[in-house]
Amino acid sequence: MPLIKPEDSLETIFNTIKHELHRAYLDKKHPFRYVNLATVGVDGVHQRLVVFRELSEDLKLTIYTDIRSEKVVDINFNPRVSLLLYHPQKQVQIRMEGHAGIHHRDELTHDRWQRVQGDARKSYGTILAPGTGIKQSTYDDYLTENEGQYFAVISIQISTVELLQLNRGEHIRVKYEKSATNWVGQWLVP
Ligand SMILES: Cc1cc2nc3c(=O)[nH]c(=O)nc-3n(C[C@H](O)[C@H](O)[C@H](O)COP(=O)(O)O)c2cc1C
Repeated sequence: MPLIKPEDSLETIFNTIKHELHRAYLDKKHPFRYVNLATVGVDGVHQRLVVFRELSEDLKLTIYTDIRSEKVVDINFNPRVSLLLYHPQKQVQIRMEGHAGIHHRDELTHDRWQRVQGDARKSYGTILAPGTGIKQSTYDDYLTENEGQYFAVISIQISTVELLQLNRGEHIRVKYEKSATNWVGQWLVP
């Protein structure tokens, strides 16, 4: 059963997209839970999967990471990012672009750190920075006092959303762009 039907209006589709994106972080089994985040670094494009943590009403998307990671270096170099999601059952691709900002050691990160509990905190507490070369396969050297000093929140203000619904040759492609006051939708040739 496709997510988008040919009779759906631009407004209906935008609401459906927002609904699915909200479900992505509320439902742990949702296929949009893991999102491909692409950034631009000094030496080119980098991609990686990240967990989709939250989406605000004005389409600000939240991701957690380690402040020492390459994605943070990239975002500081160029805040423009791209996100890619795919729902295999619904055969829907969503592509988004936006501007990313990094939060570190501020009120927001302090608040979010309280939501990261137990072993999950280890993801942001390695002694050596993520991506450092090591001599063995595993690494087990974590901060003893992990107070979230390396924990960072990436906040991405989405500026364009593009959806492609595959449907037996009757594909539907639509793009939304954020203007100063609202979102403007446009059908596209698939
Ligand atoms: C399913 C999955 C989920 C992941 N979620 C995150 C995440 O939420 N935040 C994060 O920083 N890295 C996450 N990672 C690890 C990244 O994909 C990546 O390997 C790591 O962050 C280093 O990326 P970078 O060097 O480009 O910054 C995840 C990996 C997988 C496979």
